Amino acid sequence: MNLEQALSELSLVKDKLQLEEFFQKYLGKKWLLNEEFAKMKEASIEEKKTLGWKLSEIKTKLTEEYSKKESEISINEINEQLKQDIVDISVTGKKYKWWHFSLLTKTRKDLETIAENMWFTVDYGHEVVTKYENFVSVNIPLSHPATEMHDTMYINEKDMTWENLILRTHNSSQQVRDMLKMWAPMKLVCPGKDYRFDDMDAHHDVMFHQMEWIYIDKNVSIANFKECMLTLLSAVLGREVELRFRPCYFPFVEPGFEIDARYDIVDAKTWKAEKSDRMEILWAGMMHPNVLKEWWIDPEVYTGFAFGIGISRLAAVRYGIKDIRYFTNWDLRFVKSF
Ligand code: PHE
Repeated sequence: MNLEQALSELSLVKDKLQLEEFFQKYLGKKWLLNEEFAKMKEASIEEKKTLGWKLSEIKTKLTEEYSKKESEISINEINEQLKQDIVDISVTGKKYKWWHFSLLTKTRKDLETIAENMWFTVDYGHEVVTKYENFVSVNIPLSHPATEMHDTMYINEKDMTWENLILRTHNSSQQVRDMLKMWAPMKLVCPGKDYRFDDMDAHHDVMFHQMEWIYIDKNVSIANFKECMLTLLSAVLGREVELRFRPCYFPFVEPGFEIDARYDIVDAKTWKAEKSDRMEILWAGMMHPNVLKEWWIDPEVYTGFAFGIGISRLAAVRYGIKDIRYFTNWDLRFVKSF
């Protein structure tokens, strides 16, 4: 039994398992030290004295060193554990965003909230409507050339009565339904999808999102329209955008206007802003008396305004986007950058 060797073995012990092995070897029941004690039986009394003294010294030293090592190992283990569990509260957390609404939905929802705060009722209406609702009820006879601009998808069923159903080309098709429900006075917004046979480009798509606003009451004037429109545009855009009013013809309003916007498009790489072309974002006018009369609202008593906002175009202005097709082609690089 060599104390030096035992101690050098102990110094190599790194974890609890090795420590246990060491214990079994030197200090356990079958310990080497026991064998040494056994030898004492054969020794003479004189030898026994020195041997006994030597052995108990070894035992004390070894047990002492062993318990030192034991506490050293458990402290190391605790420290190791603490290192792993460490929470640095000064580090700003990683933000995990699993999903978000598309910019179109977000803009639509914000518009709805703004409308509700202005006491307008939200009605999504129907995407499949009759030709009567889509055209005739809003002063567009079926022979009118304006129907050409609104060419759409026809739902052609065998049953001849269904032949009149089409996918709505504008949300104005909802006007007549809501006039039937609410009559006057009426404050209504109708957001949703419209379908037209349009050539796709940066500002057109065959399916697009619009939101129709209608306000009918006594003494409603163009001034009310302007105030309402500017309030909602500043609420949704939160900054000044160059606007242009133009007179325009729509069969269901008199007079009619078109509002164009010009906005900054920021290049994602160079951070340089570039002015966009003028883009129509809003179509409007004072309710045509014929439309009011369609539901026995007396145009001498009630007046109103109606306007439609192109949600995709408004979202393009809001987020400084060049081409509205980005909203629906689901390029993940685009989606993830918002
Ligand atoms: N419905 C029209 C269109 O989509 C827009 C519009 C709405 C114009 C209300 C005037 C008033 O073309």
